[in-house]
Amino acid sequence: MTDQPSPGVSGADYSGPQRVLSGVQPSGALHLGNYLGALVKFARLQHVQPTFIFVADLHAITVWQEPAKLAAQTREIAAAYLAAGLDPAKAAIFPQSAVPEHAELAWVFNCVARLGWLDRMTQFKEKSGKHKERSSVGLYTYPVLQAADILVYKATHVPVGEDQKQHLELTRDIAAKFNHDFDAPGFFPLPEPLVQGPGARVMSLRDGAAKMSKSDESDYSRINLTDDADAIAQKIRKARTDAAPLPETLEDLATRPEADNLVGIYAALANQTKAEVLAQYAGQGFGSFKPALTEVMVSTMGPVTARLKDYLSDPGEIDSILATGAARARQIARPVVDEVRKRVGFWGA
Ligand code: TYM
Repeated sequence: MTDQPSPGVSGADYSGPQRVLSGVQPSGALHLGNYLGALVKFARLQHVQPTFIFVADLHAITVWQEPAKLAAQTREIAAAYLAAGLDPAKAAIFPQSAVPEHAELAWVFNCVARLGWLDRMTQFKEKSGKHKERSSVGLYTYPVLQAADILVYKATHVPVGEDQKQHLELTRDIAAKFNHDFDAPGFFPLPEPLVQGPGARVMSLRDGAAKMSKSDESDYSRINLTDDADAIAQKIRKARTDAAPLPETLEDLATRPEADNLVGIYAALANQTKAEVLAQYAGQGFGSFKPALTEVMVSTMGPVTARLKDYLSDPGEIDSILATGAARARQIARPVVDEVRKRVGFWGA
């Protein structure tokens, strides 16, 4: 037993199957950041590796959620997954709370992770703000449950936005320490975050230094997945920018956060690099770039929004997809937890 992460201890020895896993909390309307940072990648990866995508309802209740609304919010995230192109015949789509193995493994991991590791988590500091003592204990151990979400499937690849990188580092530390403490080299893989691409960190339309977020008071700061073409056009028109035309180089762009953000959004939507966008628009002002951005956004997001509404009109269909997904997920998760029970030495294991 050690108190330190054990880098290099033998998640590297892992030789099991490669799997993709990720999730989104059902705690508010989804925005363009969630779509570009996460959902688009889920849909791409399902063609490459076995993929498990869940709705993180256990995580959502770390802050208050209205019980009468939680199930509907869970269906909304599932509908957004489907609208973004996830195919339930390929990816398992399920609610986290329907697979009790997540919570079971999280308890063991609570006893593996060290307080000092959790004390360093910046998301807890941001979310608890000035009232740390009034936060739920669950908000503090949130990243430990996240590690369990990933490792209960021995997932090797985790598509997320950049804000989740620290939680992935903690997941690797927990995996390595479990493998070490329980003499199980290579039992858990050390999973990799997949954060590449210009959509990994979409910023607020009102402030190039703040992340686009569900919790921002101003609706003009974000594009919601439910926004129609008029709302999108208006939000882009009002988006904060500077007066200069778009530069020629990425170095110059990097010094202008708002311009950088809009070019990044364009690139992610059009499936281009930022350099390619600059090659086309350098020298042009926002008077011409903003309408071009609106056009690419409306033509990309319009069909997604339409599909989202369609799926939401059939909650029975969503429920059946979620139930099937949960059964598939449990087939992988249960044997992993049974093996953990043995390694830990629990009675009857
Ligand atoms: P959540 O629900 O806050 O966000 C869902 C996903 O959206 C990404 N994201 C962004 N990407 C780019 N730009 C932004 N402005 C932006 N805002 C959000 C997030 O990085 C995330 O990928 N802790 C996770 C949920 C979770 C999870 C997991 C993820 C629970 N267990 C296991 C992966 C694996 C979260 O809060 O996501």
